[in-house]
Amino acid sequence: MSILETKLGPVIFRNPILLASGIVGFGEEYRELIDLERVGGIVTKSISLLPRPGNKPPRIVETPCGMLNSIGLENPGLERFLTEKKQFLETLKTNVVISIAGSSIEDYVEITRAIEPLDFFSVLEINISCPNVREGGILFGKDPHLTESVVSRIRAVSGKELWVKLTPNVTDIGLIARVAEEAGADALALVNTFEGMAIDINTGKPKLGNVIGGLSGPAIKPLAIKKIWDVYQAVNIPIVGMGGICCWQDIVEFMLAGAQLVQIGSALFANPKLPIIAIPKLEEFVVGKGLNSLNEIVGKVIID
Ligand code: DHB
Repeated sequence: MSILETKLGPVIFRNPILLASGIVGFGEEYRELIDLERVGGIVTKSISLLPRPGNKPPRIVETPCGMLNSIGLENPGLERFLTEKKQFLETLKTNVVISIAGSSIEDYVEITRAIEPLDFFSVLEINISCPNVREGGILFGKDPHLTESVVSRIRAVSGKELWVKLTPNVTDIGLIARVAEEAGADALALVNTFEGMAIDINTGKPKLGNVIGGLSGPAIKPLAIKKIWDVYQAVNIPIVGMGGICCWQDIVEFMLAGAQLVQIGSALFANPKLPIIAIPKLEEFVVGKGLNSLNEIVGKVIID
């Protein structure tokens, strides 16, 4: 077993680094930039039941140390995913995580049923935390009752590993995390973006066509670490951590806070090779610390 290998339920990851949802689409373009088979896994853009054209532009605004986006879950929808997008993913020799999003619980259940027979993917990530759509999205992830309903309904029709992607835009993320765990989640992925807004002082108008958006990038890293630490203390299931990871040291930090796996998102725009660069650095770290496996540091922040 390699020193970076880790197992979540029955799924083996060759290293803890996954590419976050929404950054690499369905992987076809990104494969020109890195060898996708060297990462632990790739998470697809969230698929909705029907195709979504996304929100009106501008959709991305740069902020100090961060990025504000309001894509609006643009995606080809379930049918075109099945006819056009899944073929490339089927050939990949790494873990494929399919992310799904819905406007209603029925949407989530219908997509889950349709993809359940596909055997090329190992994990289903439910996005109940998109800040940029009018119906569904983040509303599910902010309300413990809706979180319970959507997770338990999906659990009832899926035997896949089930990750629930949580929003940080709540007062008590530990509460939502426990509800998702009790409803049958196998792991929790966090954090999704923080709700944000930017205004052009010359025009007086919001900089995003959708008015509000989700903030990602290094600006949110300490906020994300705190949420992960909160959730680590609240649940017994594994955590997949993300939120502003920019270098291999950030990965170590997320793991010390309680994440067993991590996802890299916005940083890929500036440094597409970051996941590949981080792998030997993490190996050196493990050896330098005299550990047998990177897994040994999960949740091991020392609090005196
Ligand atoms: C979008 C979805 C997300 O889950 C997120 O965090 C940010 C943006 C979107 O497609 O708009």
